[in-house]
Amino acid sequence: MQNLPAHVAIIMDGNGRWAKKQNMPRAYGHKKGVEVLKDTVKSFIKYEITSLTVYAFSTENWKRPPKEVKYLMKLFSQTIAREAAELDEQGIKINIIGRRAKLNQQILKKIEKIEKLTEDNDKLILNIAFNYGGRAEIIDVIKKIKADKNLKTEEITQKLISKYLYNPTISDIEFLIRTGGDKRISNFLLWESAYAELYFTDKYWPEFDEKELKIALKSFAKRQRKFGALIEEADQ
Ligand code: FPP
Repeated sequence: MQNLPAHVAIIMDGNGRWAKKQNMPRAYGHKKGVEVLKDTVKSFIKYEITSLTVYAFSTENWKRPPKEVKYLMKLFSQTIAREAAELDEQGIKINIIGRRAKLNQQILKKIEKIEKLTEDNDKLILNIAFNYGGRAEIIDVIKKIKADKNLKTEEITQKLISKYLYNPTISDIEFLIRTGGDKRISNFLLWESAYAELYFTDKYWPEFDEKELKIALKSFAKRQRKFGALIEEADQ
């Protein structure tokens, strides 16, 4: 496939509704969601797309029923521990982005472990947004900038702000996919998606297989041909 994006972001929505459709609990949908994410990662490697950022848990997701929050925490924690070795073998570098303050010690340890284990990999960069919010990220950037007493006002540029994001090595999003039918950004990567092409599909995340991914990528490829060159913005 030609004209593929270098960095794709995915809002993996619709796990709960997919599970309900099969008369199963919401947790079943989230579990299936992890399987689909594993397949998606394999497809990205196959298509040689080098960066993927996924929304696993938002700062707003704490408002869900405590039982579901607990399940999502456990699923994330177990998955990053269980899959670490295989992700590393596949050459995948894992970055976890988001607010770490509210996370428990056990999860923090696993995050640090998988990031350390995979830090030298470069086949695919997989950023997992966990306890992440776009506005929270911007607030955290401003706090870090304010704390740097040596910084002059005129030094605050787009480039500088990018350096203060949760992970300064993450490039801009070129293509943002949302499954599950809603046409919203939901506080995901507000800074990084400024120029992203948006793609919405009614398919629930557990239904987003390689065929659906291909349809999405073809849509991106066409848009690139239509809109041509990248417009360089003056830094301000
Ligand atoms: C949205 O579906 C999905 C989530 C809030 C969680 C997504 C998480 C995963 C797929 C697992 C991530 C785990 C790792 C290790 C990255 P929803 O619950 O909002 O579905 P609904 O809109 O149908 O209710």
